[in-house]
Amino acid sequence: MDLRIADESGAPTGSLVGRADELLSTHRFLRQAAVNGGALLISGEPGVGKTALLDAVAEAAAETGTRVLRAAGVEFEADVSYSGLNQLLFPLYDAFGELAPAHREALRVALGFGTGQPPDRLLVSNAVLLLLRATAVAQPLLLIVDDLPWLDRASSAVLGFVARRLVGTSVGFLAACRAQTASFFEHGGIPEFELQPLPAAAAEELIDRRFPDLAPAVRRRLLSEARGNPLALLELPSALTGPQRLAAASLPAVLPLTRRLQALFASRVSRLPEPCRRLLLLGALDGTGDLGVLLTAAGEYDLDDLAPAERDQLVHVHGNSRRFAFRHPLIESAVVEVATSSELRWAHTALARTLVTQPERRAWHLGEATVGPDEEVAGLLEQAAHRILRRGDAVGAVASLTRAAELTPDAVDRGRRLAQAAYIGADAGGELTNASQLLDDSRRASPGGSLYASAAAVYLLLNSDGDVRTAHRLLVGAIESGDHGYDADDPALLDALHTLLLLCFFSGEPAAWEPFFAALGRLTPEVPAPLAVAAASFGDPARTGQAAASRFDAMVAGMSDEVDPNQIVRIGIAAIYLDRLSDCRDAHWRVVRLGREGAAPARRHLGVLLHLCFDDYHSGRWDEAAELAEEGLRLCDEHGFRFVALYFQYVQALLAAARGDAEASDTLTDAILRFAVPRGARAVEVYAYHVRGLNDLARGDHESAYQHATAISPAGRLAPYVPHALWGCLDLVEAAVRTNRLTEAAAHAAAVDEANLAGVSPRLALLSAAASAFAAPDDKAEELFEAALALPGVERWPFDLARVRLVYGERLRRLRATARARTQLRTALATFELLGARPWAERAANELRATGLTKPRTGTRSTVLTPQEREIAELAGSGLTNKQIGEKLFLSHRTVGTHLYQIFPKLGISSRAALRDALAALG
Ligand SMILES: Nc1ncnc2c1ncn2[C@@H]1O[C@H](COP(=O)(O)OP(=O)(O)O)[C@@H](O)[C@H]1O
Ligand SMILES: [Mg+2]
Repeated sequence: MDLRIADESGAPTGSLVGRADELLSTHRFLRQAAVNGGALLISGEPGVGKTALLDAVAEAAAETGTRVLRAAGVEFEADVSYSGLNQLLFPLYDAFGELAPAHREALRVALGFGTGQPPDRLLVSNAVLLLLRATAVAQPLLLIVDDLPWLDRASSAVLGFVARRLVGTSVGFLAACRAQTASFFEHGGIPEFELQPLPAAAAEELIDRRFPDLAPAVRRRLLSEARGNPLALLELPSALTGPQRLAAASLPAVLPLTRRLQALFASRVSRLPEPCRRLLLLGALDGTGDLGVLLTAAGEYDLDDLAPAERDQLVHVHGNSRRFAFRHPLIESAVVEVATSSELRWAHTALARTLVTQPERRAWHLGEATVGPDEEVAGLLEQAAHRILRRGDAVGAVASLTRAAELTPDAVDRGRRLAQAAYIGADAGGELTNASQLLDDSRRASPGGSLYASAAAVYLLLNSDGDVRTAHRLLVGAIESGDHGYDADDPALLDALHTLLLLCFFSGEPAAWEPFFAALGRLTPEVPAPLAVAAASFGDPARTGQAAASRFDAMVAGMSDEVDPNQIVRIGIAAIYLDRLSDCRDAHWRVVRLGREGAAPARRHLGVLLHLCFDDYHSGRWDEAAELAEEGLRLCDEHGFRFVALYFQYVQALLAAARGDAEASDTLTDAILRFAVPRGARAVEVYAYHVRGLNDLARGDHESAYQHATAISPAGRLAPYVPHALWGCLDLVEAAVRTNRLTEAAAHAAAVDEANLAGVSPRLALLSAAASAFAAPDDKAEELFEAALALPGVERWPFDLARVRLVYGERLRRLRATARARTQLRTALATFELLGARPWAERAANELRATGLTKPRTGTRSTVLTPQEREIAELAGSGLTNKQIGEKLFLSHRTVGTHLYQIFPKLGISSRAALRDALAALG
């Protein structure tokens, strides 16, 4: 059988198969963009045909007289600031001259065509927009960006700005990205469509066109395994025949398709001769497709060594243009995946030696190739940082400088580089009007004095495009090279350590905590109590939470009149995973009031608001949680705290999921993931999975709930240094039981039991006892459920408790203990209704109905409101705040809140916005 594909270039032979509808809609987009501008994102799994579709659109656009500009992100390429924009806009270089001088200079400097004042991001963005507009006057323009998430960070940010402002121009923006990959590109408001796998008939056509001689059985199996993915349809046949069958047979069939394809490519790459593999590795890590670079870096190897990969259709070589390309990005990933760490270092070193005229790339490769301290490499990274800064990318410069500091052998030099990074970082959110001034300032600063600047820089970095790893590096470096002598009373040091605690938490990596604990170990005379307790409760509470809990109680007993907002927030942080936030409510409210009066710093005001939100959520004060989250988000907006806003979005998403507004909840978690993932904020990513899991349970998608719960922590283990694994433990067990993964459920319940969470907090005691009950076989379940419900103080966590009752009630009904089932279900239903947890209330009501009872008429719409409730509801419905209503009726706003809390379930609604309609319905 001939497995060679008909067209050597890899372009689809003839037209695309089965994409008539997609082509029609993209053509419609093209036509519209040519007259009125617009942007469109195409997403889809790897191999589904995004690039093929972009190629077809590019061709069609050119035929209809639109000028096409293209660029593509490459996974392993160095993040060279603005290299993507340079690629995209290079053909328009001559038109730069038509821009006003300020814009022209900004663009020239950013894209590396000249030197001058470092341009501000906004100026560059506007310059690009104006350039595109001006160019499109003569001829419509279409920008096509493939693999958008891999574009460099600075270009992504600018394109995100530009793409949302094209309406009214003749410029179109079309980009492709893998489904669910996050990037620094702001998607907000840009229409997105997900390219689906090919329909069955088209898949068959594609197969028959390329492999007309397949045996029927092989063809059938292929069609079923490829599930309409064109890349799989084209690649799996080779795995089903000849020597490659063996490799494919060893792949577990349960792997997701993408993983399977990459594993298949990996096995093909592994079988190539070593010289060939090394060339591929250079190609993948260089990412530019420049054959010249590849061959120079390769030294003793030459073009002939690449032939086996070419024969196996893994790469195309275009000798004339001296370029080469991987057939698909999954092949690049496979090449890097199979490389050993010493091969990776060899390749980076070889590329660094080759790229002498490109100092940024060179420095980056050296940085990747170096493990221990190395002054030469550190010096090059520092120089590169200055170049990056001169092109206006502060965040890129900080990343390069902190890496430089990390590799610096000499302590004084390290301190100096860190100070520079801190000063640049501290300005990252603002305008870089005078970079040389910044550098001068940092030179004068003593390394020790940079601790405050470093902590400030961390916040600015996180709130712009900075990633957690860079921020962590920066702060660890600043602490380790400071002249504080590890004095436990040094306020700058304490502030830095508390900030580092959060960074370690965000990173979600156990290794990130090592320098933190090392610094705590050196503090003299001793670690202050709030820091020590937070370290134990916030780091790995599954293992150290119990010890933290008793220390916390002792600490709080002596601190009832604490007034320092810093201290209150720190104690609150220590309380979160010990479920002791209610012990801090009064102190927290004091800070909220100070904050509202402008008498406490916004950061502290936000901290306490968040803690109150968490406490409110767990203790069932959901309306207050919603109000405070709103207050928090407003404040974040005002102060540009984009990172902190994620927390409040998390709270909103939790409430939306619990109350059955799945759409709002999904929109929020999308936004959270888009921000958190590219920044490496794993803990925040975990928040999103927690919400998604809850949402899935609410809507009965248990498989997805299981996937989300195990993305937080694997079944059978509480992932170390992932405190949220505790909050999600019951979700995991419930999802496992409902998807019939009884072994996993039992293993997880056992892990939770072993961790002795009951010793950490009464709420965790409930979750942990309930987990055992959920996972237990029928003959043991009742006793365990009863034990869970009999735990002291369980009524303090109404939502958790009602969920336990619901599952217990379901179990009892199955065991035909109808009367007792009803009792549990009725109680659960009442709580869910009170909370406004609509989907859960529905589930409880359905179960109750299944026991032969109709839904009780309590707490439903038919209940009339008391006259006072009616009055409050009318006022709230007319748009007054609780405070305003309170003033009118001489009630405290808290009392108003309490009334509304009872009114909502009576009206069967869960938000203020629904009041007006509900009242109208009452007549
Ligand atoms: N509709 C189609 N008809 C024929 N071939 C296709 C079609 N869609 C994709 N292909 C081929 O499948 C392979 C993978 O497609 P590609 O566009 O690279 O996927 P993606 O960019 O989504 O990862 C390529 O070889 C491409 O030519
Ligand atoms: Mg592609």
